[in-house]
Amino acid sequence: MSLPTDFLWGAASSAYQIEGASRTDGKGPSVQDTKVIPAGTPDFTVCSDHYHRFREDVALFAELGLKAYRFSIAWSRIVPEGVGEVNEAGVQFYSDLIDELLAHDIEPVITMYHFDLPAALEANGGWADRATADAFVEFARVCFERFGDRVKWWLTINEQNMMTLHADHVIGGITADYPVYQANHHMFVAQSRTMAVCHEILPEAKIGPAPNIAVSYPASSDPQDILAAQYSNAIRNWIYLDAACLGRYNTLALDWIRRSGYQLDYTEEDLQVFRDGRPDFIAFNYYNTDTVAYVEGETLVDELGNVHGPGSQADNPHLTRTEFSGWWVDPTGFRTTLQEIHSRYDLPLMVTENGLGARDELVDGTVDDDYRIAYLRDHIGQLNAAAESGVPVLGYHPWSVMDLISTHEGFDKRYGFIYVNRNNSSELDLARYKKKSFGWYRAVIDSNGAELG
Ligand code: BG6
Repeated sequence: MSLPTDFLWGAASSAYQIEGASRTDGKGPSVQDTKVIPAGTPDFTVCSDHYHRFREDVALFAELGLKAYRFSIAWSRIVPEGVGEVNEAGVQFYSDLIDELLAHDIEPVITMYHFDLPAALEANGGWADRATADAFVEFARVCFERFGDRVKWWLTINEQNMMTLHADHVIGGITADYPVYQANHHMFVAQSRTMAVCHEILPEAKIGPAPNIAVSYPASSDPQDILAAQYSNAIRNWIYLDAACLGRYNTLALDWIRRSGYQLDYTEEDLQVFRDGRPDFIAFNYYNTDTVAYVEGETLVDELGNVHGPGSQADNPHLTRTEFSGWWVDPTGFRTTLQEIHSRYDLPLMVTENGLGARDELVDGTVDDDYRIAYLRDHIGQLNAAAESGVPVLGYHPWSVMDLISTHEGFDKRYGFIYVNRNNSSELDLARYKKKSFGWYRAVIDSNGAELG
């Protein structure tokens, strides 16, 4: 089986990283606007200025040949305080963006929450407070009601697992007393309720979760390493997809949470909510696998001291690392992950992020990013292989459609097919330039993934 003819060749972004205009036209601040910005990187007032240039950008997306575009809606642009009044100017912005995409035959794929909780909700306890789940469902309802006539593809929460496994690193401003697994539970409740509401309001729409999934390898055939990797997989991956797709807690992950003494209160009603809200497909982001070894006295610990499993991270002698971040490069792990997810849950899959961050250099109006082409070529090759082995894949969205602010390195670390002329210290002229990968990806799309160059 090769990729279907209606395959959603796309590319991805997120609101707080691309839009700018972070306090324009009534938008409320999000936790990204109130957090301590990493040293040497810009805040989110301008970003790639997509808010003001989206028509020019969508024309470029069409030239790139995109069939779909995965972007997120900034919750605090629609509901500035997180709950309550709707900001009509914010609704108008996304409505115009959706219309512009559709006018160019580009299917919108919308993430409703990508790391940017409204700051007003954070001030009231954030995800530690169950009321945030109610607020999310109401915000989602507004999105379905205002955009559902034109949008078929919906994603609930981006990388809930990274917001749990690396809460402070990803969201910022999280302290050691944050009840990490209780907050995680409230996100599960919000997600399941949202999927149920989506099906009720928009019976034709498709909705799914969007965690970051990648298999954890055991460092060796030592049974202790295998046991450590089994826990790592349960805690990093399967708890998220079991809750969303099977309507239950993964037992191994639950065992770890309980034995480690984390706060986790839930009711039989919550589990019924899990069972009542099911996805139509699974979206996931993939960058790299990890390798886990059992080392006495060592654990998988985050920046705040939360322990997320026995064992510790180990090197993988079979893989190389990216130059910028030292992330493992593992295209075969991508195929393994696709196949593993499908064999566990038997749902169609959509890849919502995958890509290479690098220090691109603009020379003569372009960037010779052969390294990015090589990375994407290898991963799309494995996507084809997974499809041939029987995995139904709906779409593929490399990160990112154009340069935007990375989570920690600002504009030093770029992922886009389109170069944005600015850097960390100056906005320069924000002009757009096509990188070499732009023409390469266009040809991949034209051949439906058959010609990888
Ligand atoms: C994903 C996030 O984890 O990775 C994106 O969903 C992020 O928001 C991307 O930008 C790449 O990570 P980074 O740290 O290189 O920006």
